[in-house]
Amino acid sequence: MTAHVILHPSGHEFVVEGADTLLEAALHSGLAVNYGCSNGNCGLCKARVVSGEVTKVRHHDYRLSEAEKSQGYILLCSHTAQGELVLETLETGSAGDIPQQEIDARIKVIEPLGEGVRLLHLQTPRNNRLRYFSGQSATLIADGAAARLPIASCPCDERNLHFHVRRDEQDEFACAVFDRLASGDSVRLVGPFGDFVLRTEPPRPMLFIAGETGFAPVKGLIEHAMSLDRTDPLRLYWHSERPDGRYLDNLCRAWADAFTNFSYIPESGGTEALVARIAGEHADLAAFDMYLAGPPVFVDGVATALAEAGFPAAQLSVTKT
Ligand code: FES
Repeated sequence: MTAHVILHPSGHEFVVEGADTLLEAALHSGLAVNYGCSNGNCGLCKARVVSGEVTKVRHHDYRLSEAEKSQGYILLCSHTAQGELVLETLETGSAGDIPQQEIDARIKVIEPLGEGVRLLHLQTPRNNRLRYFSGQSATLIADGAAARLPIASCPCDERNLHFHVRRDEQDEFACAVFDRLASGDSVRLVGPFGDFVLRTEPPRPMLFIAGETGFAPVKGLIEHAMSLDRTDPLRLYWHSERPDGRYLDNLCRAWADAFTNFSYIPESGGTEALVARIAGEHADLAAFDMYLAGPPVFVDGVATALAEAGFPAAQLSVTKT
């Protein structure tokens, strides 16, 4: 069974498959609806049914008042829908609207992504997910060490949080990931942080420029754009001077095969040559939003070259990794 949901006042739409809750379906679709516990306790996912029918699929301890019930309020995390449904609900407008959270997550797996880079895959408890926008960062604390790392996955991926950790002998947290931590260990998450997030208004085609593990936050943004079913062109330039530095090259090639609006360019030259190539490929560069992430020297070099090429600073989002 499938339902089609329209949110007021934003006009955003999503589809609910089977008995998924309205909250799960909205998050899978990349929408930033308000929620807290995702477990029927906090009431933050309250929404009003404007038209259509909902069905309760999960118990909730949170008590709606009689007045709220008579006005048609329900909890997104406890209800599903069939057919056509119109809901009135608040959506998170900007990164600053999300409160800082502290969550104890577990390591699902640590695995190599390439020479000197590990995937750290965390899973949050079922009733305590981290709310964040794709592209943001979190502070991770484990084994007496801490680091702030960009989240390499999208909030549409429910409880799963990915981080790309580069080997660095000066970095205690990286040493813990490479040498001591294992599946099942606890990691405290604090966050989210940062404003490297997708701009949705006005809708523009997007260029992503990643240097080395700057691919991590860019990956989150691309997955978010894909979950929103954006049809605007998405083009990724991934720069690395090492032959094996593009550690998820196969994933990028698979995206390019699967999505007609996505294209992928591996890059290894200097930053000025990279920007010259981008400008040469796009006569209308100012028509794009651009997202730039990577080591500080790389980001500064590309940002300077883009400014010299006349790219509007207001359309450039930057994060250093
Ligand atoms: S998210 Fe807490 S009650 Fe629904």
